[in-house]
Amino acid sequence: RAVAPFSVRMPVPKVLKPQSTKGDTDVYAITAKKAKVEILPGTRTEVLTYAGMFPGPTLRVRTGRTAVVKHTNDLGMGTVAHLHGGVTPAGSDGFPMDTVAPGKSREYTYPNQQRAATLWYHDHAHHMEAEHVYGGLAGFYLIDDPAQDSLRLPSGDYDIPIMLRDARFDEKGRLVFQLHDFEHRNTILANGKPQPYFPVAARRYRLRFVNASNLRTFTLRLGKDTQVAQIASDGGLLAAPAAVRSWRMTPGERIEVVVDFSRFKVGSKVVLTDAEAGPVMRFDVGRSATPDTSRVPDRLSTIPALPAATGKRKIVLSFDPVRNRFLINGKQFDQKRVDAEIKRGTTEIWTLTNDAGNFAVPHNFHPHLVQFRVLDRNGRPPAPAEAGVKDTVAVGPGETVRLQATFGPYTGRYAYHCHMIDHSSSGMMAQMKIV
Ligand code: C2O
Ligand code: CU
Repeated sequence: RAVAPFSVRMPVPKVLKPQSTKGDTDVYAITAKKAKVEILPGTRTEVLTYAGMFPGPTLRVRTGRTAVVKHTNDLGMGTVAHLHGGVTPAGSDGFPMDTVAPGKSREYTYPNQQRAATLWYHDHAHHMEAEHVYGGLAGFYLIDDPAQDSLRLPSGDYDIPIMLRDARFDEKGRLVFQLHDFEHRNTILANGKPQPYFPVAARRYRLRFVNASNLRTFTLRLGKDTQVAQIASDGGLLAAPAAVRSWRMTPGERIEVVVDFSRFKVGSKVVLTDAEAGPVMRFDVGRSATPDTSRVPDRLSTIPALPAATGKRKIVLSFDPVRNRFLINGKQFDQKRVDAEIKRGTTEIWTLTNDAGNFAVPHNFHPHLVQFRVLDRNGRPPAPAEAGVKDTVAVGPGETVRLQATFGPYTGRYAYHCHMIDHSSSGMMAQMKIV
C-alpha cells in the first residue's frame, strides 16, 4: 500500500500525567490494549498499544524522583514492561519470564537515580517481544536533570522525540508480522505515521531519535548532508557535541542531535533520508515567532570515569544457518541457566564478537541494568558519537567491540541480548546474576 510521502503530519506523543504524587514519588498508570488507530491515511489499523496510543504515551521524569508505573494488561496475552536503559531493581526490570497475565496488573518502580537521557519502554515477554514491540508496545521515557537544564539546549516545543521503525502493511492496511521478515517491512514510520512531514520554525531544535525497529538499522542524514551537532547517545549527553553529517542507529539505540533550521530559508522543505530506505520524514521550515535563546555549549557533560576492570568476559554473537538458530556463546536462552555471575559493584570488560562465519548477519548487544562505555571497535578507539554513555551497541559481521561497565547497584537476575529483537525472540539472549 503506497502512501504519498509527506502527506501526514508527524504527531508528538503526549506526555502522561501522574495519577498521583506523594513526596518524591509520582505514580503513573498505563493499560496495554488493542486499539484501531489511523496510521495510513483513511484506514484504521489494529495495533497493540499502551493507553490506546501508537507509540505509547511519553513518560517525562526527573533524576532523583521515583516513578511507579502500574501496567495493566488488557491484551489477552502475557506482557512484560521493560524500561530500556533504566538502572532498575531486578523486580521491576521486566525480566522476560516475569509476565503479567491477561487481566492482571503489576507495579514497576523506577528510582531514576541516573543522569538525564532518552530512554524508551517496550514489551519484553519472551518469544513474544518481537511481535509485541512490532505490534506497537513501545513509548518514550525521558529523564531530565538540573545539569542538563543549565545548558539551555532547545527545550519545550523545540525538544522533539522521534521514534523510527519499519512496518509491513497488507492491501487492507493491516499490520503484518512475520518473524525474521525484514525485506517486506518497507514502510517507514516516524512517531507512528508513514514518512510524515513536521513543521518547524527557523531556529534550533533538539531531536531525540529512537530506533524502535525490530531489525532495521537507520543511517540518517538531513537535506544535502547538513552538518548537525550530535549531543547525546543512549545514556545521555556526550562530553562535547560531535559535528556529524550522518548518524547510524541499530535497533534500540538512541541518538540526539541539535539542528539549526535557521540555516535554511523560510519555506524550505528538508528531508531526513535513510541510506537504505530513502526518505524518512520531512521538516517544513517556517518563520520563527520568537528569538532563539537556546544554544549548544562546547562542553555538555562530564562522563563519569569508570573504575579499573577486575573481570573479563567473552561474548560471541552468532547465527547457525544449519539449525536456524541465533546464539550467544553458542547457546539459546534458558531461564534455568545463569550465564554470568557477577559480584555487585565489579567492573568488567566484555569483548563482543560477531562470529559471522560465511553467513553475514548483523547483530547488536544490550545488557539490562548497566550503562557502559565502548573501549574500542575493531581495535580502534570509538568515534566521538560512540564515546559517550551507551546501553546498546552495534556488532556487525566479523566485528569485535570491547565495552566496560560497572555491574550494580542492584542484585538479581537481568537479561542481556541482541536487540535485533526477532533474534532475541528466537533465543538470542542470556542472563546474568548480580550477587
Ligand atoms: Cu530494549 Cu532487553 O531491551
Ligand atoms: Cu542478532
